[in-house]
Amino acid sequence: MDHYSNNDVSYTNTEGILNSDLFDEAYAHIKKWPHYQPTPLVSLDSLAQSLGLGGLYYKDESKRFELKSFKALGGAYAVKKVLKEHLASKYPDQEITDEDLTTGKYAEDLKKFTVVTATDGNHGRSVAWGAHQCGINCIIYMHKGVSQSRAIAVEVLGAKVIWVEGNYDDSLKLVKRHAIENQWCIISDTSYPGYEYIPKYVMAGYSVMTWEIFDQIDQVPTHIIIQGGVGGLAGTICVHAAKLWGQNKPRFIVVEPNSADCLYQSARAGQPTMVHIEKETMMGGLSCGEVSIIGWNILKDNADDFTTISDENVGPAMRLLAKGCAGDPTIEAGESAVGGLALLMELNPQSMASLGLNQNSRVLLFGTEGATDQEIYDQIIAQD
Ligand SMILES: Cc1ncc(COP(=O)(O)O)c(C=O)c1O
Repeated sequence: MDHYSNNDVSYTNTEGILNSDLFDEAYAHIKKWPHYQPTPLVSLDSLAQSLGLGGLYYKDESKRFELKSFKALGGAYAVKKVLKEHLASKYPDQEITDEDLTTGKYAEDLKKFTVVTATDGNHGRSVAWGAHQCGINCIIYMHKGVSQSRAIAVEVLGAKVIWVEGNYDDSLKLVKRHAIENQWCIISDTSYPGYEYIPKYVMAGYSVMTWEIFDQIDQVPTHIIIQGGVGGLAGTICVHAAKLWGQNKPRFIVVEPNSADCLYQSARAGQPTMVHIEKETMMGGLSCGEVSIIGWNILKDNADDFTTISDENVGPAMRLLAKGCAGDPTIEAGESAVGGLALLMELNPQSMASLGLNQNSRVLLFGTEGATDQEIYDQIIAQD
């Protein structure tokens, strides 16, 4: 593990970056989506004990709608928000509901509306899912490192896939260019200067997880360990945990693959720092070389620790959860879901201490996806 303890942490007020109303509104809407139900918060008592911790909680997003990933909450929600705003500008006197969108009330107005995004898989699927529900056009850009079955999962939702040479950052560059040329609407989970309000909706959608955890957990966790790709997820949870738990908020630890450690490198440099990805990590959803500017602006002042890990413990962590440790429930966890557990498995007494972890710690992990690519998942689980 590489560890950077954030010297610049000041726990600044983030209201100006991600306003509380965004979280309230997202929860109020998403709770009403068909088939919505909170995903389980699983207490892994035996695993906690074997890792030398007091408690370990795992938010199991493998059960999130039919998408099996927390990303279902972000992209699809942002698509609906953007469509409502588009229609509101045309019909200022009408209140436009989610139902209006999904029942085709405004189909004629929306028939030329096209949403686009770059993705490593899960975010694109969420955007395609939202677009499919609302009957609008959707184009998803994927780089060659993304598996065919992740592309098929998007295509069955009616979206068109465009393959891009290079990595995630290259596909994002192409999306930006093509969107301007064709007047498409970018629904990105990452933000950059001049493009912030849509990623805020995506991030607000993620807060449904923390809302649910707040109701599900009996004791406030002492630590949150969360995976970082561009930092949108981590940024949201960091802000929302502080809002929900105030003074008792948990120590906030970000973990990234060492081959795509843009948040870690940015924290060390004290400014957004781009990382060139030379080798794709197994944790495909975290394979991002450039920080989301909103995520970064939150984390630079509010995350306590930035860490990186190798891929070494990813397979073992997935298998451990699939089997269940000494009587713990079994869990289906995809490659990008186990960053937190893989980090814990890598720690020695000294690195435990450097993160303030001990037998009294109650650690909250975000199992952000299930088997989102069944073939890859099965292969990894079979490598016992
Ligand atoms: C399963 C999974 N976990 C975590 C992340 C990281 O989210 P972010 O890129 O917002 O940091 C992603 C991103 O795609 C993901 O797909």
